[in-house]
Amino acid sequence: MLERRTFLGGCLAVATAGHLSAPARAGTKAPTLTARPASVQLAPSGFPETAIWGYDGAMPGPQLRIAQGARLRRSFVNDLPQASSVHWHGLRIDNAMDGVPGLTQAAVAPGQQFAYDFIAPDAGTYWYHAHNRSSEQVARGLYGALIVEEPEAADVDRDEVLILDDWLLDPETAQIDPDFLSRHDRSHAGRNGNFIATNGRHDLSLDVSQHERLRLRLINAANARIFVLALAGMEGWTVALDGMPLPAPEPINDLLVLGPGQRADLIVDITAGPSETAHLARIDRQQGVPQVAFPVSGRAAAARRGPPRPLPPNPRMAVSGLETAVTTRLEMQGGAMGTLDAAILNGERKSFRQLVAANQFWAFNGTIGMTETPLASVPQGETIKLEIRNDTAFPHAMHLHGMHFREVTGAATLGPFRDTLLMAGGETRTIAFVADNPGKWLFHCHMLSHAASGMMTWLHVT
Ligand code: C2O
Ligand code: CU
Repeated sequence: MLERRTFLGGCLAVATAGHLSAPARAGTKAPTLTARPASVQLAPSGFPETAIWGYDGAMPGPQLRIAQGARLRRSFVNDLPQASSVHWHGLRIDNAMDGVPGLTQAAVAPGQQFAYDFIAPDAGTYWYHAHNRSSEQVARGLYGALIVEEPEAADVDRDEVLILDDWLLDPETAQIDPDFLSRHDRSHAGRNGNFIATNGRHDLSLDVSQHERLRLRLINAANARIFVLALAGMEGWTVALDGMPLPAPEPINDLLVLGPGQRADLIVDITAGPSETAHLARIDRQQGVPQVAFPVSGRAAAARRGPPRPLPPNPRMAVSGLETAVTTRLEMQGGAMGTLDAAILNGERKSFRQLVAANQFWAFNGTIGMTETPLASVPQGETIKLEIRNDTAFPHAMHLHGMHFREVTGAATLGPFRDTLLMAGGETRTIAFVADNPGKWLFHCHMLSHAASGMMTWLHVT
């Protein structure tokens, strides 16, 4: 057993180094996805290259595209100096493929591999990222887009994936700040970068024509930054959130807010004229600054097209059974300027001072981090409500693995079908979902320094 593993590991390492993709048995052997150190020109030219960790040495990692209902197989090879795993964020897949060390699999040690193999049930914009020591590994660049295509492509001229991220770089050397355990970041708003990029480019620019129609797939891969975005020189609609289509395209008249882990699919028309530049803009200290530039040359059509059709719905998007659903309460506590004065850490009650010394700052229902028993245990097929109270001074982006939920926004009204809920400090919000995917599912803050310092729990669908 051990020998065979070693053999496979060595064999794959050779294949990766030489880029020999198994020719003879291509039908039976899964392609590899290798996490490894690399360096990329992240900062403007003139700065040195930045040492990163990337899938197949790239940042972002390779864009994976499959058809809805198709099978994705990747032999994950860990060529990092740390154990790692891959989580397929937002995909409602088999629990064993969810990539959470200690809950759904063992972390993959350096030199080892793990076979990911699943069917993607839903079309939409998803992403994959490291899920071991995520606050470090995602900050080093271990993520990529996973696009599941609708059976019939949306009626657009182009489809662009835009992965937004911020990097904490040394302003002299352009190297990633290695203080991934920063007490300040963990106890405050998380690790926020000083260098903002899209698809690894600080000046991403895409040439377009007037009246061209684009589908923009926005993914927030940042550790903690909430992107507040606006359109300039283009107009359009939000057609999907967190991968899941909205029942009708929603005109964008306002700012778009994207918390860490969240995605939004937009369909936009370029309204700026030839020789002007349209922008996806970011609001930074009350000012709009370019996030992505779209220089316009020529005209694709004399006039804008009519409104787009909605994307086709995915299966199992309804949340019913609310009347009889059991409500579980989740109290989010702690952090700087919070009211937490003690919490359970590793089974022992600790004062806030002791927690600070342990570099642990956040609690769910008085307990820090993962516990033996889940937050809730739900029989498969039942509907569950989670009432979440953010009793902290900070926003949090709560992400549920394995299933999407809807926010209960009124007696009979439900919000969009999402996997990540962005909550402001002091808010209480209720989400509901049908527990239709059996297994152990993580529920945590996607501000990764918060997850690493307490904001992590799980649900058991039995
Ligand atoms: Cu995108 Cu548990 O994470
Ligand atoms: Cu948080």
